[in-house]
Amino acid sequence: EVKACLFDLDGVIVDTAKYHYLAWKRLANELGFDFTEQDNERLKGVSRVRSLEILLEIGGITLDEQEKQAGMDRKNGWYLEYINKMDSSEVLPGVKAFLQALRDNNIKIALGSASKNAMIILRNIDMVSYFDAIVDGTKTSQAKPDPEVFLLGAKELGVAPSECVVFEDAEAGVEAAKRAEMYCVGVGSAEQLGQADFVIASFDEMSIDRLKF
Ligand code: G6P
Ligand code: MG
Repeated sequence: EVKACLFDLDGVIVDTAKYHYLAWKRLANELGFDFTEQDNERLKGVSRVRSLEILLEIGGITLDEQEKQAGMDRKNGWYLEYINKMDSSEVLPGVKAFLQALRDNNIKIALGSASKNAMIILRNIDMVSYFDAIVDGTKTSQAKPDPEVFLLGAKELGVAPSECVVFEDAEAGVEAAKRAEMYCVGVGSAEQLGQADFVIASFDEMSIDRLKF
């Protein structure tokens, strides 16, 4: 029986992937190389440090620790400019209705995100109150595909992994959910998220009935 749903944030509740992309691209351009939307697929769901490492690998550049920290800080500054302008109009279609249906059916809700900016975004889109537990990048030490973020979410909610369903848009996130031995619904393209138990293109396709496997 499903007792809880765990949601990734970026790409599931809001489309912040475009803002991450623009900010990383700006850093890449400053460092003298281009960064495409296709390259950006590799950063989805991945931690900030790991994202920088992948970016530098794409550019064929090495930086020392201090320069890496400065690069991440600059990127995050630009990213913050974007997310500070967000409001509830950026919540993806069908998300709020589905979360409300979960609440009405006494199914618990947690956030499971790698982002250290998760609270800022949830506040700006006015969705903090939907969550019974919030696990973000300030609480985890292992990045997805490690299952830590989802296992911590289940623990905070007091439910077993086998009673949880994870919603994820990134390959690394789907892998994390499967490693946590949770059911996983992919949000996005079925081609990319083949490891998920089933895939929806958007929450407009989701309903409580689909949780009764
Ligand atoms: C999410 C996004 C990643 C991002 C990571 C860290 O998982 O999908 O693209 O790198 O969070 O986010 P942060 O806001 O802490 O840089
Ligand atoms: Mg995501």
